[in-house]
Amino acid sequence: MNQLVFDEDAARQVESVYRIRQAQERRRTVRETLRARPGERVLDVGCGPGFYCMELAEEVGPSGSVVGLDGSEAMLALAGRRCAELGNVELRLADATSLGVADADFDAAICVQVLEYVAETRAGLAELHRALKPGGRVLVWDIDWATFSMQGDELTRRVQTAWDEHLTHTSLPRVLAPALRAVGFEDVRAQAHPLATIAFDPETFGGAMLPFIAGFAGGRAGVSEDEAAAWLEAQRALDERGEYYFAVTQVCFTAVKPA
Ligand SMILES: C[S@@+](CC[C@H](N)C(=O)[O-])C[C@H]1O[C@@H](n2cnc3c(N)ncnc32)[C@H](O)[C@@H]1O
Repeated sequence: MNQLVFDEDAARQVESVYRIRQAQERRRTVRETLRARPGERVLDVGCGPGFYCMELAEEVGPSGSVVGLDGSEAMLALAGRRCAELGNVELRLADATSLGVADADFDAAICVQVLEYVAETRAGLAELHRALKPGGRVLVWDIDWATFSMQGDELTRRVQTAWDEHLTHTSLPRVLAPALRAVGFEDVRAQAHPLATIAFDPETFGGAMLPFIAGFAGGRAGVSEDEAAAWLEAQRALDERGEYYFAVTQVCFTAVKPA
């Protein structure tokens, strides 16, 4: 079955999820880890609706710049609106495996929840490596959906199996460290960032993602549309009884291009 397509509808849904409190906290963690400095040139591969481009542009200031690339026109349109007033942000259509940027042009690069959708992991990492200056820092963040745990019955397991089809790599973090080293990065580090939610709280990923997951799962992997809707209702019922549970582990990799 086909993975998630980032068309206008999906782009709008992703944008609304990325406005929630937990998404803001995640971006803060990414920025604190990357430590972009004034004057730096930063690359955001798979920039999506442009939240990082906007925030990083402020960190690097007018003497620095941010280039956001994405393979989806719909996402770039949202990013364009978000960054319209920022003279130090440039947005372009590009595939993660063929960035179309000059060699050694960036001080730092981020790629947050993008490579899990890209079949050619090494090609994507090699492009990030090529784009960085010697000594440049990369930050790659992906979710290990093999750790996805929810309260529920057999239908929940089937919805989770259907959700696995939304991306190419259900467990990309497992292979990212050797892949980063293989394309030439050094000082590879990994930091886990678990998400755990015990209430159907729309300000958490565990709350905000559920309608999205149900919408994707309906009609896939033997889950009918009616079953997907019933599952969402069952999750709300669990919440009313104080039994709601959603957890998944995200992993943040950082590495450096040798000086
Ligand atoms: C889950 S969103 C993450 C957006 C952004 N990095 C963030 O965290 O706010 C994934 C993004 O990756 C982009 N994407 C997926 N596959 C891609 C590819 N092969 N080349 C470029 N962008 C891609 C999608 O269009 C989408 O904007």
